[in-house]
Amino acid sequence: MRVAMIGTGYVGLVSGACIADFGHQVTCVDKDSSKISALNAGKIPMFEPGLADLVRDGVAQGRLAFTSALAQAVREAEAVFIAVGTPSRRGDGHADLSYVYEAAREIAAALAGFTVVITKSTVPVGTGDEVERIIRELRPDADFAVVSNPEFLREGAAIHDFKHPDRIVIGTDDERASKVAAEVYRPLYLNQAPILYTDRRTAELIKYAANAFLATKITFINEIADLCERVGADVQQVARGIGLDNRIGSKFLHAGPGFGGSCFPKDLRALIKTAQDHDVPMRILEAVEIANDTRKRAMARKVSAAFAGVLRGKTVAVLGLTFKPNTDDMREAPSIPLITALQDMGAKVRAYDPVGMEQAKQALTNVAFCLGPYDCVEEADAVVIVTEWEQFRALDLERVRDLMACPVMVDLRNVYSSADMKKHGFSYACVGSASADQSVYVPPIRARTMSGTSS
Ligand SMILES: NC(=O)c1ccc[n+]([C@@H]2O[C@H](COP(=O)([O-])OP(=O)(O)OC[C@H]3O[C@@H](n4cnc5c(N)ncnc54)[C@H](O)[C@@H]3O)[C@@H](O)[C@H]2O)c1
Repeated sequence: MRVAMIGTGYVGLVSGACIADFGHQVTCVDKDSSKISALNAGKIPMFEPGLADLVRDGVAQGRLAFTSALAQAVREAEAVFIAVGTPSRRGDGHADLSYVYEAAREIAAALAGFTVVITKSTVPVGTGDEVERIIRELRPDADFAVVSNPEFLREGAAIHDFKHPDRIVIGTDDERASKVAAEVYRPLYLNQAPILYTDRRTAELIKYAANAFLATKITFINEIADLCERVGADVQQVARGIGLDNRIGSKFLHAGPGFGGSCFPKDLRALIKTAQDHDVPMRILEAVEIANDTRKRAMARKVSAAFAGVLRGKTVAVLGLTFKPNTDDMREAPSIPLITALQDMGAKVRAYDPVGMEQAKQALTNVAFCLGPYDCVEEADAVVIVTEWEQFRALDLERVRDLMACPVMVDLRNVYSSADMKKHGFSYACVGSASADQSVYVPPIRARTMSGTSS
């Protein structure tokens, strides 16, 4: 089948490359010509594990191509996916659908023969109706159907998720369109991935409900973590204790600095706005949004607590900047409000991230970007683990301690155990455990003297 993928961002490029890998003929389109030039030169414009190989194979086998010429790609395709961005609209938090509608208009102009337009972007309920109206108005003669097919992949594990989905949701009442959409995914349901056929509006809402539920789960465990710190309990044990209950499940129960990223915050906001428009207040989700927003900045207080609330003049080393490991995506990363809060308290910030440095430089100011974790902690008064990259899980703790001016670690991802950290001579704070040293840290004259090395 011939497929056009409009938008080659995190979702469009992964989806396009995977669909080509299924055996279809895919043309990926982006209006950003620098992205297309990079792709045609064999460069992948974002970091996603395994993507470079998959793209290279697809291109080599002649099943994957990149272009800015939307019209030709659409004209030749039986299935046209819309995978453009739907960020928060400035000012009101509704999903900004201008990219989706612009794509719809461009697609309309190029339609030839029966074409299924499949919305993969996350869009509010009713957007499919509007996409259909736009195309119908511009091309009353066209033979087309609009399907909702939301995407559930996670950045960092996107290829695995696309190829092994928990479910594929196909939302349409049009039988011909339903068959075409299902045909795209045939290799997957041969492998038993369940397809949920439903109407378009329900499919659109499934995506938002899924993200809002997961965001709620994270926020729930974060609040339980705060309580654990006060009452002398351990959130990791609580999470395990409740997660073993099959009705609850263990995923998304890791306490931390609050959720960020390109989806949860904006999708939560958009769902709340949609509900308000329909006079259905979403009290739980409103609370989740507020709790999560305040949490990110509040994490800076964990750092200042180690210095009796006074961070002025201290140097803080931040390890991990992206909103999660295995991506270079900095959109709404918790590191941004955290670092701003540290700076507002008068701290100097040094930072390192394995792949997100270039994106981070656009989002942060007055930060000294470092070459590696050990370079970053040098002469720092505190180190904060913000993103749980694999390489931060097995740091040489003695080396870190000896390099730092004060051996203070604030571990916002609970990567280390407090017993271990104490053994290595750190003052250690984590999330959701009273056993970690959350108390005021009294710095030694020089940390290095503590470890026995010369100062
Ligand atoms: N990133 C994720 O993990 C993820 C997961 C599931 C769903 N989604 C949803 O998928 C959609 C895309 O997300 P993303 O992260 O890939 O976005 P992105 O911002 O990384 O990429 C969007 C791309 O679309 C291009 N584009 C915009 N208008 C265009 C047009 N008219 N013609 C051609 N190209 C156009 C942009 O240049 C950009 O390259 C969003 O709705 C998002 O909510 C994202």
